[in-house]
Amino acid sequence: MQKIAVIGTGYVGLVTASCLADMGNRVICVDNDRKKLENLKKGIIPIYEPGLEELIIKNRKLKRIFFVNSIREAAKESDIIFICVGTPTQADGGADLSAVEKVASEIARAMNGYKVIVGKSTVPAETGDRIKRTIEMIKRGKNNFDVVSNPEFLREGSAIHDTMYPDRIVIGVESKRAEEVMRKLYRPIKAPIVVTNIPTAEIIKHACNSFLSTKISFINAIANICELVGADVEKVAEAMGLDKRIGRQFLNAGAGFGGYCFPKDLDAFIHLAEKKGYDFELLKSVRKINNDQKKLLMKKTEDALWIVKNKNVGVLGLSFKPHTDDIRNSVSIEMIKILQHAGAKIKAYDPKAMQKSKAELAKVTFCKSPYDAAKNSDCLMILTEWEEFYKLDLQKVKKLLRQPIIIDGRNIFDPVKMKKLGFVYKCIGRC
Ligand code: UGA
Repeated sequence: MQKIAVIGTGYVGLVTASCLADMGNRVICVDNDRKKLENLKKGIIPIYEPGLEELIIKNRKLKRIFFVNSIREAAKESDIIFICVGTPTQADGGADLSAVEKVASEIARAMNGYKVIVGKSTVPAETGDRIKRTIEMIKRGKNNFDVVSNPEFLREGSAIHDTMYPDRIVIGVESKRAEEVMRKLYRPIKAPIVVTNIPTAEIIKHACNSFLSTKISFINAIANICELVGADVEKVAEAMGLDKRIGRQFLNAGAGFGGYCFPKDLDAFIHLAEKKGYDFELLKSVRKINNDQKKLLMKKTEDALWIVKNKNVGVLGLSFKPHTDDIRNSVSIEMIKILQHAGAKIKAYDPKAMQKSKAELAKVTFCKSPYDAAKNSDCLMILTEWEEFYKLDLQKVKKLLRQPIIIDGRNIFDPVKMKKLGFVYKCIGRC
């Protein structure tokens, strides 16, 4: 059993804390939002993440997870402190690290013995060094500490599984002592551990997210060429994916990537490279291809509808991907705004993200079911590939629509079948 503090109860913080508690540790979670803390104590979780609620309730009962609002209190009582606060994008594309700095200063003031301070938030390279310098400057007495970079690779929607069964664990350390602490902490998890220095660990995180984004933009660029020559991107991805050096994952062509991580991390990496004097042109193209996918979807909509103004568009899917209610940088939300700007009237449905979308979108009719969204719409647009959309009764959808038009931004149906059913079916990279 280790005594752990987790600062920040966002996605990464809550998942990290509940998994560490489930491994038998004593975990104190800290947040400055008192209402959120009160809710968490009652088992009310601010995000939808499969398995998270159960894990928190179970470990509350076992007295292994606690919620407080004082960083000092948590830091004093812990040996390992995870920093999991937000690092949003600033106007210049760089990451805003003010929350990380504030937490580091608070930890420094609370030092009462050797502490291992672990950076878990996605941060630009060199943040570990900054955390170290901040703590060194502020701390009093001879208290020893080590800073560790331990980037997380969890995906929303499968966050618990990804944390408990990761492909690898990356630990950036400066001392053997800190390495031992981290190895001991992760002993219950069966995964290869890559131990390196702090800047390398930080770059590993940048490199992974930007490589995955590159894979998606690459297949989207291929999809565009497929449309021009009458090829099928799904088959291209299948054949490419069978090459073990490439792999099939993250080769799904579509409306592009969204979410809190990829767009933000891409901006931050491009910004960091620029600051260091390197023009990361490749990643700028990845970003441009991704943004252009929305223009492409709009063009397809105009092709199908001719005039978009005053047309009813039914939208299926609001979250940035299935199995989450997260709408941050959701392609669907951005697409709805583009359609509204062109004068379209939107009816939308999502199994989990309607509540959050209501605060973000104006003048949208939120529907009870996908069929409700299709009813009297001039076209139906699919923007998140939730399972229930694959199982739609398409004959019923066709009857409900004013015109049998489906614009599929996630390629969930077979174009040949759709044509046979009498749909005008526009998807990505398939003819
Ligand atoms: C991503 C990474 O996958 C995680 O490893 C990482 O830890 C996390 O960011 C983070 O940095 O915190 P996440 O944002 O939860 O995880 O979602 P992904 O499953 O990676 O999907 C990101 C976006 O890419 C979604 O909008 C999804 O629709 C899109 N995508 C994904 C595609 O358009 N095509 C694909 O083939 C795969």
